[in-house]
Amino acid sequence: MNNIYLIGFMGAGKTAVARTLEEITNRSRYDTDDLIVEREGKSISEIFEEKGEDYFRKVEREVVSSLTNQESRIVACGGGVIKSEENVKELKRGGRVVFLYASPETVLERVSRNDRRPLLEGKKNLSDIKAMMDERMSLYEKAYDIRIDVDGKSLEEIAKEIMEKVEV
Ligand code: S3P
Repeated sequence: MNNIYLIGFMGAGKTAVARTLEEITNRSRYDTDDLIVEREGKSISEIFEEKGEDYFRKVEREVVSSLTNQESRIVACGGGVIKSEENVKELKRGGRVVFLYASPETVLERVSRNDRRPLLEGKKNLSDIKAMMDERMSLYEKAYDIRIDVDGKSLEEIAKEIMEKVEV
């Protein structure tokens, strides 16, 4: 299958890059977080607060599954989808998995601007972000087909690099 899945840590720019890819390719774009919010009728923060992370992951798992059975989609995945092996297996079967890598410094700069990320509450500093990224890095590495380093690149440059490398 020829879907394109964007994975990476919070603040790596998955949603913004997916929007740019949508413009360039005319493919339809989906965002796992948006679909979860739609399904639950609550914000991500409310879901974490009221129902907990395990519940969020369960809904995320269902949403990921629903995004692997059609062609030609661009999907921005929440930063934690790689925590589920089943998610990773399905993404790999559904198309090309593209890892957007941003440095901890870039991530910090971007996530400092909003309160939409419950897992970063009280952790918006370089050492906590580095620790979380280190913890997850092996999961991203196992999951991706293509890695793109995004620091210092424009959205258009990143999108072009992805389309050159995915060959789908
Ligand atoms: C999460 C990332 C978020 C969102 C939730 C959990 C994570 O998505 O799914 O807050 O575990 O990394 P973004 O990566 O789009 O911020």
